[in-house]
Amino acid sequence: MVQNDTENLPRHIAIIMDGNGRWAKKRGLKRVLGHQKGVDAVRTVVKTTRRLEIPWLTLYAFSEENWSRPKLEVQALMSILRRFLQSERQEMIQQGIRLQTIGRTDKLPAATRDELAATILATAENNDLVLTLALSYGGRQEIVDAARAISHGIETGALRASDISEELFAKYLYVPEMPDPDLLIRTSGEYRISNFLLWQIAYSEIYITPTLWPDFSEEEYIKAIRDYQRRERRFGGTNESD
Ligand code: IPE
Ligand code: IPE
Ligand code: MG
Repeated sequence: MVQNDTENLPRHIAIIMDGNGRWAKKRGLKRVLGHQKGVDAVRTVVKTTRRLEIPWLTLYAFSEENWSRPKLEVQALMSILRRFLQSERQEMIQQGIRLQTIGRTDKLPAATRDELAATILATAENNDLVLTLALSYGGRQEIVDAARAISHGIETGALRASDISEELFAKYLYVPEMPDPDLLIRTSGEYRISNFLLWQIAYSEIYITPTLWPDFSEEEYIKAIRDYQRRERRFGGTNESD
């Protein structure tokens, strides 16, 4: 990207990091090695997002449905996440990155939860980039959790049915202050959402690349951002004045 091509940058980028297994398979390697290699792409994307001063990045790291994978693969993913947090914590602190999570993280193994808690605490005062990891995350589950919390409010008399609006509903999502993603990227060429941020992507611009996640480079990331910068967003309206 040319140095001052900063007009119209997305404020929030969300990424479905897909294709680790296929990356490994193509090389005759175990799927887990694809996940390990995927960590390098995570580092690259976080670094580039920070450099471009984009304030929100959300990465889909583990879906609620991913629990159905073989136990060994799930264990490997959890330990890769744990080691990633350990090795990156200092860098996050220095780079002004705040870590948070969305999802039913109480289901993660204790050792992974501990590293998450330590990193969240250590980066809590940072404000330059909010890095959100979607872990044990499902868009439908998030909506159900919100509906349950709202219903509880009604049961206790704190809310009335007529209070429910889009704005109120959004306050019950996992991170109410998170702006909706402007740009949603999916790697590995699959044309689906796989239960990611269902509520929040209503008007997100979608970019799909056949590149497998471990091969997703800074160059390719910037290409996706440039593509976004050229798009015309309408939000249901028109751009004609009369
Ligand atoms: C994405 O890669 C990582 C996770 C879902 C955790 P996959 O493991 O889904 O890789 P493919 O889609 O099988 O290639
Ligand atoms: C989506 O990828 C979840 C993550 C990237 C964490 P999947 O590989 O689980 O999605 P499907 O099964 O291809 O829809
Ligand atoms: Mg996949």
